[in-house]
Amino acid sequence: MDAALPATPAADAPLTAILDHLQAALAAGAPEVTILALDPDHGAGCYAGEPLTVDGVAGRHRPWRVWVELADRLELRLGTPRPAAGPLIAVRFSRRAPTPALPRDPRERYGATSDFARASKLEEPGFVLDFADAVARAGLTADARVLVLGVNRGDELALLQRAVPGLSGSRMTGIDHSPSALAIARARFPDATLLEADLAHLDRLGLGAFDLIVAIATLQSPGIDDRAVLRALTQHHLADDAAIILGIPNGRYRDGELSHGARMKNFAQPELGLVVKDLAFYRKYLQQHRMQVYVTGHHELLVTGVRRARPEP
Ligand SMILES: C[S@@+](CC[C@H](N)C(=O)[O-])C[C@H]1O[C@@H](n2cnc3c(N)ncnc32)[C@H](O)[C@@H]1O
Repeated sequence: MDAALPATPAADAPLTAILDHLQAALAAGAPEVTILALDPDHGAGCYAGEPLTVDGVAGRHRPWRVWVELADRLELRLGTPRPAAGPLIAVRFSRRAPTPALPRDPRERYGATSDFARASKLEEPGFVLDFADAVARAGLTADARVLVLGVNRGDELALLQRAVPGLSGSRMTGIDHSPSALAIARARFPDATLLEADLAHLDRLGLGAFDLIVAIATLQSPGIDDRAVLRALTQHHLADDAAIILGIPNGRYRDGELSHGARMKNFAQPELGLVVKDLAFYRKYLQQHRMQVYVTGHHELLVTGVRRARPEP
């Protein structure tokens, strides 16, 4: 090993020593780093870092959550741990590949040939659970009219049909400016109305009013004036007793992995300033428009506004 690198930490080393070793090895250009650790199955009930001796080997308990979080925060890939000597396991971290260049056509940035098209919202457990809860708050019936902005390949449409039994494609409208993503959505949902349009010009589409409007990871897209779109939605496209779900990304995909936390240029760790600003604005705006507002989510923060019809006097 390079003499300049901190020594490979022993199984009873503190987390800070592991962190120092990983960061120094990565800075020195190592493609991957392996750490020997106690198999956490030996430490059920122990807290992270709690000293533990197993079969005469001194170590510290660390649940998988710690290794997963460490890889996530350093934007590394975590390999499947392999058995090592005795109660030890080998935990391997490797670098993620850089993000491929975006398609040149700005409308195809998230199109069928983009890296984004390989990721599926339907395979993110937190999103599936949080979105189902948000839709349940809207209290929709099968005849509800639903609008999805930035519909892309239609993942949200699939989750809406899962959450609202009997909701047919013909009650769903989706808008996007990516022709290739819309072609996939049309094949998946032949009955839905799927419009190729710019969200800046919703007024040209003759959309009418909806019982639920969904915009996931869309209002933050370059070139979109999220405040103007939100104003247009609340003034012209929300029915009296309607709901809205706005998703703000709080993570990013890289080389197949999703890392938590909004990442800003020149920050090694997540910086949430813009996320908090947008979240606070949406929450206040929807409250001012007589909505009860809920904020949920993890990698995707969901601001859900539900407007209940005023009870008859
Ligand atoms: C980050 S993707 C999110 C897609 C999907 N909602 C999801 O969460 O998986 C943003 C989507 O908004 C679309 N989009 C971005 N700007 C747009 C605009 N000005 N008009 C219409 N669609 C736009 C993109 O083509 C893309 O499908």
